Amino acid sequence: MDDIKYSNTPQHDHEHSRTSYDDQKDYGTPASQSDVQITLTIDDREITVPEGTSIMRASILAGINVPKLCATDSLEPFGSCRLCVVEIEGRRGFPASCTTPVAEGLIVRTQTPKLADIRRGTMELYISDHPLDCLTCATNGDCELQDMAGAVGLREVRYGYEGENHLKAEKDESNPYFSFDPSKCIVCSRCVRACEETQGTFALTISGRGFDSKVSAGISNFLDSECVSCGACVQACPTATLIEKTVIEHGVPEHSVTTTCAYCGVGCSFDAEMKGEEVIRMVANKNGGANHGHSCIKGRFAWGYATHKDRITTPMIRKNIHDEWQQVSWDEAINYAASEIQRIQTKYGKDAVGGITSSRCTNEEVYVVQKLVRAVFGVNNVDTCARVCHSPTGYGLKQTIGESAGTQTFDSVMKSDVIFVIGANPTDGHPVFASQMKRRLREGAKLIIADPRVIDLVSSPHVKADYHLKLRPGTNVALISALGHVIVTEGLVDEVFVKERCEWDSFVAWRDFVALNQNSPEVLSLVIGVPAEDIRAAARLFATGRNAAIYYGLGVTEHSQGSTMVMGIANLAMATGNIGREGVGVNPLRGQNNVQGSCDMGSMPHEYPGYRHVSDEATRKLFEAAWGRPLSNDPGLRIPNMLDNAIDGSFKALYCVGEDIVQSDPNTQHVTHALESMECVIVQDLFLNETAMFAHVFFPGATFLEKSGTFTNAERRISPVRRVMTPKNGKEDWEVTAALSNALGYPMHYKHASDIMDEVASLTPTFKGVSFKKLDELGSIQWPCNDKQPLGTPTMHIDEFVRGKGKFFVTEYVPTTEKVTPKYPLILTTGRILSQYNVGAQTRRTKNVEWHKEDLVEIHPHDAEERGIKEGDWVGIASRAGETVLHAKISERVQPGVIYTTFHHPESGANVITTENSDWATNCPEFKVTAVQVTRVSQLSEWQRNYQTFSEEQIAFTGKKPEASEA
Ligand code: SF4
Ligand code: SF4
Ligand code: SF4
Ligand code: FES
Repeated sequence: MDDIKYSNTPQHDHEHSRTSYDDQKDYGTPASQSDVQITLTIDDREITVPEGTSIMRASILAGINVPKLCATDSLEPFGSCRLCVVEIEGRRGFPASCTTPVAEGLIVRTQTPKLADIRRGTMELYISDHPLDCLTCATNGDCELQDMAGAVGLREVRYGYEGENHLKAEKDESNPYFSFDPSKCIVCSRCVRACEETQGTFALTISGRGFDSKVSAGISNFLDSECVSCGACVQACPTATLIEKTVIEHGVPEHSVTTTCAYCGVGCSFDAEMKGEEVIRMVANKNGGANHGHSCIKGRFAWGYATHKDRITTPMIRKNIHDEWQQVSWDEAINYAASEIQRIQTKYGKDAVGGITSSRCTNEEVYVVQKLVRAVFGVNNVDTCARVCHSPTGYGLKQTIGESAGTQTFDSVMKSDVIFVIGANPTDGHPVFASQMKRRLREGAKLIIADPRVIDLVSSPHVKADYHLKLRPGTNVALISALGHVIVTEGLVDEVFVKERCEWDSFVAWRDFVALNQNSPEVLSLVIGVPAEDIRAAARLFATGRNAAIYYGLGVTEHSQGSTMVMGIANLAMATGNIGREGVGVNPLRGQNNVQGSCDMGSMPHEYPGYRHVSDEATRKLFEAAWGRPLSNDPGLRIPNMLDNAIDGSFKALYCVGEDIVQSDPNTQHVTHALESMECVIVQDLFLNETAMFAHVFFPGATFLEKSGTFTNAERRISPVRRVMTPKNGKEDWEVTAALSNALGYPMHYKHASDIMDEVASLTPTFKGVSFKKLDELGSIQWPCNDKQPLGTPTMHIDEFVRGKGKFFVTEYVPTTEKVTPKYPLILTTGRILSQYNVGAQTRRTKNVEWHKEDLVEIHPHDAEERGIKEGDWVGIASRAGETVLHAKISERVQPGVIYTTFHHPESGANVITTENSDWATNCPEFKVTAVQVTRVSQLSEWQRNYQTFSEEQIAFTGKKPEASEA
């Protein structure tokens, strides 16, 4: 008799310890978390499993395959198909193994003649109402119904199609990415449960009863329903009922490669399922540390941009931005760029050049760009798009807790009792994590939201915020002080934690400050716009609700006091002892895929990789020795400085990799003026983006499907990006930077992205233990990863803070200078939506445009009525920086006095109106507060009309036709 023992670790860890992280086997039901072990016998094999494990899971763990259809290990057991029946000694009947838990000493039989009969009979009923078109079905060979028919030995179907059946049920093809063919549905409910349990959207139901039962997406079709196209139902469906249209078109995939989504900071793991060089579908990897098999519309479906006709795959150069582009060889383009950089540095001095990298780049790409700038250009003029998003996080967390990163894993939220979301919109910006958060909320965790706008989380199916602090844009710091006031004055401080873990003097200074009457909710409520009693109640809940975790986003950082607010958040967590264990912590939700990683890799002018200041002698010597070049100890230029210096005439050349500063940075006119003032702008990107329209050299970039490297997500998780197809442009992006370096006389000898990571590891203590080999073994690693933590660090600051003692900072509220006036009486605030990503360059070139064809301006009914604005009207939005025109959407999601828009389409010109106000510490733009006036108009703004002409001309210069951006 075999004797097999399994631990109770969570499924992904469990499977990792048992085989490897990429085990995709379906164990039928989820793993149990119990510590109690149970031993039973299944088909003469003795097996020990945690209490609460189903007999089905125990059987599969023992290597016995029990037939199943309605069960899958990502969902709670349901027990509807009856295919998994077993016999248990001493019990009557034939219980379903998926819904029957193990018990000590049970003797189970999974294979008997009687069971075989029952299963065949069940399958026969299913098949008798199922089209017998297996040979021509798109999922032939990849269908659980087909597999089970084979597994139970079904050879004939006695009932025929004469009676009532569903074979003529109408297909729903409305969703651009997947199709629903009810004639193939076995009503197993896996899709409905996936939508509820995994995604938390509750878009599907089983309507009708008995024979009339059918899956329904509400009153209309999938596209018009509540469905958010996450794909969970498609992934869960065991038949060809819910199926990707790409599979119908191209057939089932032949091989797969595990890689990481290139969109948001959740960092979902996917299997790119391929046929030759063609991606057939992206399937969420169930062992992904960040996503556990879940996905959102972007990662799951929006990868078509990789082969979009707009992609530029040949290098191009030109002397003047009003010239046509000349297509040239890689050598010619690289040599031209190198000669221009040399010419400009000789003529204007070293500081006349710089580089910008992007959070869309891999760690390895960012590393080589900053190395090129520091070691080859000889300056520290390198910056990244984190400048305009999370630079205050880097600054604020470094000051208070000693490390510029979130403190937790995403899974930590499952142990939170109170979840405090500040200035973040997870269901749109971080959808897969939002689903996990909603799951915890459905289990009973409390929710506090601080946001000027009614985001989806405020009220969604089975989730309702306990407090929505609907503050006025720009008053975050007043709110955090008022919350601190309540905690201090009502005796809610965790003094034991503070005494043991924090700098007492800094705490006393903060405590005495927030305790001042000027910081009481009653005094500040007028400023914040939230009733004092709500602030008090939220503070009490946060401080007394056991494990309280803070999740925040750009609504915190993109303010003139962004860094102050980040420090205020850290103060709050420390004062209440909510840091250093699971379920708590300070968690910045990073917008783009590699914001964390690009900052880790030294993309800011003042810091080497690992956040070490360029003026630190020992660190500089380390890099000088490794790179063999003298390095500057002068913190270089930030993006705004580069732009200002360009206008002043002292900054002349820019190497911009993967970033589109014209669309994403504030005050577009200022950015374009700066670019026009430069003599050589080199852009490396997939498309002729808005910045490339001002460029002299264009290096075509590679998509994440065409290169190797790593991304680091919001939980410090380094995940592998694997090349699944040959780069259409002929080079991976790090190779382009290395070639430029070689042409400038500084050879970079890397053969593969892994060599770059090896160099990072050798020079960066927090990455010391990271290598591609280890990533292959573990799947992903959360840094710090070193001799002390060879497998990485899921939760940080457990025994002490990285800086030793946590430090409190006094956070005095200083109102922004961007004030409403009679001329500009409204506040514009910006954000993003689920279907689009950042500047939209990728998602606008997919079918995601069906959900968001244009940026709209949301305006409260009261403000709209005052101005005579109706739904769909053109409205002009004017600020002191500029003017643009968008269609109006009347909505009570925004409060009176506030309007809201997204910035996914370049022609919207959202940043034509944002100003250059910025965070005092980091220059992160104050995107969330712009004073504006809104009026009804009848035509586009002057900027938009000029933009249209200019962009059409620029596209024509590439030899492509100017066309609407669509898939
Ligand atoms: S659509 Fe698929 S998952 Fe949903 S009930 Fe039908 S067969 Fe099951
Ligand atoms: S795609 Fe996602 S949201 Fe839409 S029905 Fe399926 S599970 Fe629900
Ligand atoms: S966009 Fe974000 S949440 Fe969506 S699949 Fe990609 S990493 Fe996951
Ligand atoms: S798999 Fe157990 S009842 Fe369907």
